[in-house]
Amino acid sequence: MKNILITGGAGFIGSSLYKKLDQNRYNIFIIDNFSNNYDAKQKLHNLALKRKIQKNKNYKNIFNIDIKDRKNLENFFKEYKIDLIIHLAALPGVHFSNERMRDYFENNVKGSFNVFEMAKKYRIEKIIFSSSSSIYGNNRVPFKENFTPSPISFYGFTKVEGENIAKFFSENFGMDFLILRLFTFYGPSQRPDLMLHKFFLNHYNGKRSVVFPNTERDFTYIDDGVEMIKRSIEYVENLKGLDILNIGCSKPVKIEEVLRIIKKLIPDFKYVEEERKSFDMKRTFADMKKSKRILEYEPKTDIEEGIRKFYLWFKEYYRF
Ligand SMILES: NC(=O)c1ccc[n+]([C@@H]2O[C@H](COP(=O)([O-])OP(=O)(O)OC[C@H]3O[C@@H](n4cnc5c(N)ncnc54)[C@H](O)[C@@H]3O)[C@@H](O)[C@H]2O)c1
Repeated sequence: MKNILITGGAGFIGSSLYKKLDQNRYNIFIIDNFSNNYDAKQKLHNLALKRKIQKNKNYKNIFNIDIKDRKNLENFFKEYKIDLIIHLAALPGVHFSNERMRDYFENNVKGSFNVFEMAKKYRIEKIIFSSSSSIYGNNRVPFKENFTPSPISFYGFTKVEGENIAKFFSENFGMDFLILRLFTFYGPSQRPDLMLHKFFLNHYNGKRSVVFPNTERDFTYIDDGVEMIKRSIEYVENLKGLDILNIGCSKPVKIEEVLRIIKKLIPDFKYVEEERKSFDMKRTFADMKKSKRILEYEPKTDIEEGIRKFYLWFKEYYRF
């Protein structure tokens, strides 16, 4: 049986993936530092944990380890033989990244370096690295994997650096990397700093949401995204070298359409329009030709159904 390590496995995408992976086929380990970049209670909830695991300790297959901490990271790799790393641990999102550059650099660039360095030392040849649509910046659309990255946020920059370090390790040490550039995942367990979650929370807290008109996002429903990551595991098993895949839907949705759907659910939803910030991309739009050919998958959930499913989860989670 293959041993898979998911870094950042308590987060939105990591925990959703964990729940959908076949536990009879894979032995799955999780590393997460349960950081407070958003309410860590949600991370415990994601993994059905009653209380936080002490630092550098584990509960069954779940380890509270910070990837910035090389010593404890190494203790893990000394003890467990891993065949594949799915590296998701990072400070995500563009909004705070320009203000907290050092934190983003430490977690996303140095943290990724530590993970890749351990992989080299402990001869783990297969790594999936979660990059982001943010690396494309305001490139022309649709974004293709062979475009030159031109991020406009520090977060995007940290993901480009992660990709560059992966490329270096692949070319110099014969490790196989699959870089997945994820496009706006949404759905149950979504992070509270992401658009839909933030909008619904604002509503229930009696606040207006801030909307950037004329923007659009290639939203990817979590189940579709997780299915594509699962298929990526099979692809990376036979991959030699490094490859890059967009993970999106190729169906950008305008913010005005998102608002129309939200208003159907919450007629008195209130918002103000503001000008987009300099680090916010105008649009994201994945060219999915390569991914569809390789992963043989067509996303199934349309935006209206996806937002409804998220809203159901939201009401249940907060007991609204
Ligand atoms: N959600 C999206 O739409 C999206 C889009 C593009 C890329 N991504 C990338 O996918 C990955 C997962 O994103 P997510 O939305 O699930 O975010 P998330 O914040 O919910 O999950 C990330 C997890 O990593 C953990 N983590 C952070 N720093 C760590 C560290 N130093 N050591 C150990 N654990 C650490 C966090 O505690 C968290 O549980 C991230 O790398 C993110 O940049 C996400």
